[in-house]
Amino acid sequence: MPQNLSIFPLNFASGIPYGRLNYLAQTPTSLASLQHLTSRLSIPIKAIFRTNISSTTAMSFRPTITLNDGNQIPWVGFGTGTAHYSRDAKDVVVTAIRAGVRHLDGAQIYGNESSLGAGIKEFGVPRSELFVTTKLTEKLDLGKETPRTKLLESLEKLGLDYVDLYLIHSPAYAQEHGKLQEWWKGMEEIKQEGLAKSIGVSNHGVNTLKEILQVATITPSTNQIEFHPYVWKAAKPIYDLCKEKGIVVQSYGGLVPVYRAPDGPLDPVLRGIAQRLSNETGKAVTLAHVLTKWQIQKGVVVVTTSSKEHRIKETLEVPNLPDLTEDEITEIEDVGSEVHQRIYMKHCFKE
Ligand SMILES: NC(=O)c1ccc[n+]([C@@H]2O[C@H](COP(=O)([O-])OP(=O)(O)OC[C@H]3O[C@@H](n4cnc5c(N)ncnc54)[C@H](OP(=O)(O)O)[C@@H]3O)[C@@H](O)[C@H]2O)c1
Repeated sequence: MPQNLSIFPLNFASGIPYGRLNYLAQTPTSLASLQHLTSRLSIPIKAIFRTNISSTTAMSFRPTITLNDGNQIPWVGFGTGTAHYSRDAKDVVVTAIRAGVRHLDGAQIYGNESSLGAGIKEFGVPRSELFVTTKLTEKLDLGKETPRTKLLESLEKLGLDYVDLYLIHSPAYAQEHGKLQEWWKGMEEIKQEGLAKSIGVSNHGVNTLKEILQVATITPSTNQIEFHPYVWKAAKPIYDLCKEKGIVVQSYGGLVPVYRAPDGPLDPVLRGIAQRLSNETGKAVTLAHVLTKWQIQKGVVVVTTSSKEHRIKETLEVPNLPDLTEDEITEIEDVGSEVHQRIYMKHCFKE
């Protein structure tokens, strides 16, 4: 059966809307019901996952976003930094995978790659179904260490043969030492060697991105940056350049306006939208959900974290909420731009 047809009878027979079906295919908690349906219809469950990706082109929401090298990145990633920085992340990683997350965001600087690897191993989900990121540490022992030697150390700790995405975590130290372009060439070799399926950057502004683009034969696939309404004004030129060059923006710190900088001017705006969505859906929609929905509608890959399984599951449901209106999006950005509140990596942005 052609892959793009196989979803039709399933959807037809099940009566589940396409968007919902795609969501179900992302969550192991719903696998049982999918398996039940597929056994009735004699469709292998694996076909649903493949079809899931290819059949999303007609829908506004896509559970995976296609990177400029053709690889797919799941729309939401579970972070092992911030709250889990320098801590054993095994249990939270297991919880996240059990909740349905398939994209895990690590970094050398978080000091817990071994426990990220242990969580992956413990849950035992097939490697091909996971998307694992790590990031090059900020300061290298120049002359001794390279992006490649550091990745080999990471792979050893993670217990993996490759990562799906390897990022230059910060341009600051490399730029200061005139090494940024050399590091990028090293990243390109890593991709060619297959040690990372995709390569990209993090915390890059317009200038450092342009510096890399001058020598790049492989354009960075993503730029992971702090992204929420209180940095929107500062992030917009980077966001626009990324869009122009086909670089996917990944957000981190997306919940800063409710988690780290609450009670700001955005609160009443988010509350009003949350109320509308709660009324429409009959579910308790929170300010955090509205912020996540805003990020999805901006087309960014959301990197977030939580120690609470119920919150991880709620986040995975956010795509199913009704869309924010154009006016709501404009209001979030206008009111967010009234303040500037960057929490992380200020030195990369000379703040
Ligand atoms: N590239 C970089 O330089 C960089 C910098 C910073 C972060 N990151 C990555 O991004 C990840 C996430 O960063 P972040 O922690 O700043 O993300 P965030 O999404 O802004 O905040 C996450 C925090 O919000 C709370 N939270 C989660 N869901 C919530 C909800 N529905 N309602 C209210 N609060 C909620 C969580 O606390 P509870 O545990 O209480 O739920 C969690 O600690 C990091 O772990 C790391 O992987 C990358």
